[in-house]
Amino acid sequence: MFSSKLVALAALLPFVVAAPTASIDTSSHCGQWDTVTAGQYSLLLDQWGASSASSGESCASLSSLNGNTIAWKTNYTWNGGSGVKSFTNMQLNANLNKQLSAIKSIPVTWNWQQSSSSVQADIAFDIFTSSTAGGSNVNEIMIWLANIGVGPIASSYNANGAVPTTSNISLAGYTWNLFVGSNGANAVFSFLPATSGQWIQSFNADVNVFLEYLTAHQGVSTSQYLTTFQAGTEATAGSATLTTTAYTVTIN
Ligand SMILES: *[C@@H]1O[C@H](CO)[C@@H](O)[C@H](O)[C@H]1NC(C)=O
Ligand SMILES: *[C@@H]1O[C@H](CO)[C@@H](O)[C@H](O)[C@H]1NC(C)=O
Repeated sequence: MFSSKLVALAALLPFVVAAPTASIDTSSHCGQWDTVTAGQYSLLLDQWGASSASSGESCASLSSLNGNTIAWKTNYTWNGGSGVKSFTNMQLNANLNKQLSAIKSIPVTWNWQQSSSSVQADIAFDIFTSSTAGGSNVNEIMIWLANIGVGPIASSYNANGAVPTTSNISLAGYTWNLFVGSNGANAVFSFLPATSGQWIQSFNADVNVFLEYLTAHQGVSTSQYLTTFQAGTEATAGSATLTTTAYTVTIN
């Protein structure tokens, strides 16, 4: 009796001591629209512009999930074409479709590394709002943590590229330039680091302050519903691996 209890306890010990890592699919996915769901997130392979490339692909895999903190990585190689080829991203599936007026905070941690700066890509949050819960997009709100040789949608452009609507906005501990334009279907608001070439690799802030800025200063209605919250990389050209060592987001 005594010895068999000991054996049972010894067998359990490794599981008690180990971190509470959920059992998840960590295999590599490269399909144009592959999805891997884990906890409150879905890793989305969104290679929407792949057909305009002369060659290339994006792949991605989950690494770990501890509570609501997920780790993942994506690699890509894109040759040819001029536009975005893929937006491989981590999508939040919980607490969506709240009106902006009802959102109290959106704490986010995103720690990442990228293997190469010789690419054309952004690393960004992509957020959409709609006039109804789950409805069609009215506003696209992007927060870029890195602009690597590309540029945002804007309403005007000069010799230096996109012209900001407002410069040097202090939010979430960083200084941003805001670009306002349209993608043909909806308004696009893009916050970019005001310091050219800055990579914000340890982002730990309340993303709701960006939404509050837009409702206070850019006419975005507080009755809009937050329908989509994604974080990833829009890749246009080159080869790189983006590794997210920790990502967590909660809409409160
Ligand atoms: C991405 O990594 C996977 C897994 O190592 C590999 O099979 C795939 O060929 C890589 N793809 C690119 C575009 O680097
Ligand atoms: C933004 O801040 C930078 C750095 O202080 C400054 O050089 C620039 O003139 C500012 N831009 C505007 C539009 O105020």
